[in-house]
Amino acid sequence: MTDTPDSERRRNEPANLQWGGRFAAGPSAIMQQINASIGFDRKLWRQDIRGSLAHAAMLAAIGLISAEDEVAIRGGLAAIAAEIEAGRFVFDEALEDIHMNIEARLTARIGEAGKRLHTGRSRNDQVATDFRLWVRDAIDGLVAQIEGLMRAMAGQALVHAADPMPGFTHLQTAQPVTFGHHLLAYVEMLSRDRGRLADARKRLNESPLGSAALAGTSFPIDREMTAREMGFDRPTANSLDAVSDRDFALEFLGAAAISAMHLSRFAEEIVIWCSAPYRFIRLTDAFTTGSSIMPQKRNPDAAELVRAKTGRINGSLVALLTVMKGLPLAYAKDMQEDKEPVFDAAEAWALSLAAIEGMVRDMTANTVRMRRFAGAGFATATDLADWLVRVLKLPFRSAHHATGRLVALAEARGVELADLNLAEMQSVEPGITSEIYSVLTVEASVASRTSFGGTAPDNVAAAAARWLEALS
Ligand code: ARG
Repeated sequence: MTDTPDSERRRNEPANLQWGGRFAAGPSAIMQQINASIGFDRKLWRQDIRGSLAHAAMLAAIGLISAEDEVAIRGGLAAIAAEIEAGRFVFDEALEDIHMNIEARLTARIGEAGKRLHTGRSRNDQVATDFRLWVRDAIDGLVAQIEGLMRAMAGQALVHAADPMPGFTHLQTAQPVTFGHHLLAYVEMLSRDRGRLADARKRLNESPLGSAALAGTSFPIDREMTAREMGFDRPTANSLDAVSDRDFALEFLGAAAISAMHLSRFAEEIVIWCSAPYRFIRLTDAFTTGSSIMPQKRNPDAAELVRAKTGRINGSLVALLTVMKGLPLAYAKDMQEDKEPVFDAAEAWALSLAAIEGMVRDMTANTVRMRRFAGAGFATATDLADWLVRVLKLPFRSAHHATGRLVALAEARGVELADLNLAEMQSVEPGITSEIYSVLTVEASVASRTSFGGTAPDNVAAAAARWLEALS
């Protein structure tokens, strides 16, 4: 530590901590307000301290700061972490952001050593590092949540592997499927959401630290060491790229938008299934709300809000894409606007996952009603046509036509296909025998769908068990 006389030190004290001697006066109130990010980037405090610890250890290892300085920095940062944790840290807008707030506090606590920490780095590589670490932590938390939801869905799928429900296209009754099959469709979607996060994590896991302001640094820093300390796979290869791209955040938001869309579709189905005309599922008091005027109401608000959160998540993606699209290299202050959309989307996504998991665990399926409607609306018409092809060797188009006439006949009489007697069946296609009735039941229909990925209960049970095993 150099021993500077007090008078000398005061003369060197900057009017403003960030840009020091160049400025004689402070910023206007508006300048300070628009410039400050501490209101939101305080969320990065853990990552900022982690990065500074790695940087200090490296500076000591290469002899740019003394071992005593490193010990002082380490102790000071630990104390600051404790202050923030306990809510005792005073965040100051005049210090602009989390980096300056922590550094100023460090220097206030430990003196000169604190001022040496910023050797060979800039806030530009610092914020890029902190933000990558934050997104990485968010990814790890979200992956765990997605897996929790997948487990919950696969568990319900196993219970309902053989319970028929109407399968829809155009929201019109199409063919019977099992409720387990329907739930496992979402498990597949969620597994791809998880895969997108894993891909994004792989690409983001490089350390920008040491890229400095934009050009790198003349100090003999060890970027491999800091990268390793922070759990990055390697340092980034180009300093300009490292401080100025936010594609890692955009990939995160892209994955968020796609996943939110999946969750929103499921939320929409919950809303439909809970409605009085459907009553396919029931949510308990824990996941519904009442109405202040209509006493009979039991509203699926959580599902509706998950459906709505998609809007802000999509908005976050568009916001950051728009911030980034016209920026010349390298860093520009525009990029300070990268954080709020990511924080907001991550929070909305996490809450949506928790709410959907809660509802999946909470819901009771009304299997009797599902079964009843699985067979309604001529849902086994395709099975009838397939029988004409398989047994009578009719070309599929002819079978389709004959079946269409039988559906019209049943519809005119106001009955289901299985209610037509054999004479009526034969009036349309003389070759039909009573064997036809065996394929017209819902159970026979789902059991026949044994093709790989099809809805046959054995397939569904096996797939659910596979998922539960893989997720255990
Ligand atoms: N608060 C800034 C941000 O979030 C940190 C980087 C500031 N760099 C600068 N050259 N002003 O982007």
